Amino acid sequence: MNSISSLPSILHTVLCERLGCRYPIVQTAMGWVADAKLVAATSNAGGFGFLAAATIQADVLEAEILKVRSLTDRPFGINFHMFQPNAQQVIDLTIKHRLRAVSYGRGPDAKTIGRFKQAGVLCMPTVGALKHAQKAVELGADIITVQGAEGGGHTGSVPTTLLLPQVLDAVKVPVVAAGGFYNGRGLAGALAFGASGIAMGTRFLMTAESPVPRATLQKYLDAKDPAKIRASTAVDGMPQRMIDNPYLLRLESGGLLHRLFVALNSAWQWRAHTGMSIAHMLRTAITALGEGDSAIQTMMAANAPVLIQRAMVEGRPDEGVLPSGQVASNIDSLPSVAELIAAIVGEAEARLAALTAQTNKTEAAA
Ligand SMILES: Cc1cc2nc3c(=O)[nH]c(=O)nc-3n(C[C@H](O)[C@H](O)[C@H](O)COP(=O)(O)O)c2cc1C
Repeated sequence: MNSISSLPSILHTVLCERLGCRYPIVQTAMGWVADAKLVAATSNAGGFGFLAAATIQADVLEAEILKVRSLTDRPFGINFHMFQPNAQQVIDLTIKHRLRAVSYGRGPDAKTIGRFKQAGVLCMPTVGALKHAQKAVELGADIITVQGAEGGGHTGSVPTTLLLPQVLDAVKVPVVAAGGFYNGRGLAGALAFGASGIAMGTRFLMTAESPVPRATLQKYLDAKDPAKIRASTAVDGMPQRMIDNPYLLRLESGGLLHRLFVALNSAWQWRAHTGMSIAHMLRTAITALGEGDSAIQTMMAANAPVLIQRAMVEGRPDEGVLPSGQVASNIDSLPSVAELIAAIVGEAEARLAALTAQTNKTEAAA
């Protein structure tokens, strides 16, 4: 059978079974961007959305979860990291509301993962290196998202085309491919590699439902040179992929005093936003130092959320930073999420049908 009508079953992968979505397309969490509206739009269109809990104020987090529930009856997930002051609250609310999945980078310990699993919440960490994938599975991950170097935000150094097969060969759980995806060719390609689906950040940031102000979105539309969407450690000491802009250049060329000033300013603003106690700040700093982060890196931890907020929430792209995958250079439109997912599904089906037809022709000729 090679008719196109038989193809939707090809797109209905184990990922769809586990996450309860129609298509194997995940909208990843993005601080300040993946809000209730974007998540609900994704889940309503047949994908699976993750709410970005790391930047939502603790006193409105439950309301944001309920807002997604009011906008969709489809499953969705939440993203967090253990260093955020209200990590315990995120864990408790995830379990209380029986969300379908959690995603994380620096992840929870085996005990917390055990709690999630007992509650039926799938653990779906994002990794940027083979050894992190292996460790995550050892700790109990149900699904692994692999983010290649070209992906947006904090990112590793191995490209998707190399990291994906490495991880597929090494683990037995379903693997989702991220970093550089934006269309149906990418979805068909990822499935051909053996992945169970794709996850996209930048492509969902550049949609009609994205909360990002137009002035900032324009910078993403204008970013046409992939070499200028580059990884830098200037924000918080860890490689983060961003669109080159004057603010990033100033951060990189500034001396120690300048970086110290920016870091202290961010830490103070972030403390006010999260309601973090000074004791928690100190505990986080000590834990981070124990894990090998340098002191300056620890001080810079609040830079990312604060500098991203200026661009993503306040619409001042030149006074903050613009996390982005290199894929922004291939994107020139802001479709609705439903249009985007329908187009990706249609193109993936067409690519897979063309391949099947080609194979049948070759077999017939043989
Ligand atoms: C603006 C922006 C913010 C991000 N914020 C987060 C975050 O808060 N937590 C997280 O785990 N990943 C974050 N990421 C990474 C994405 O979730 C995703 O893994 C990445 O964008 C995938 O690559 P792509 O942009 O090529 O699709 C962010 C990415 C972008 C572009």
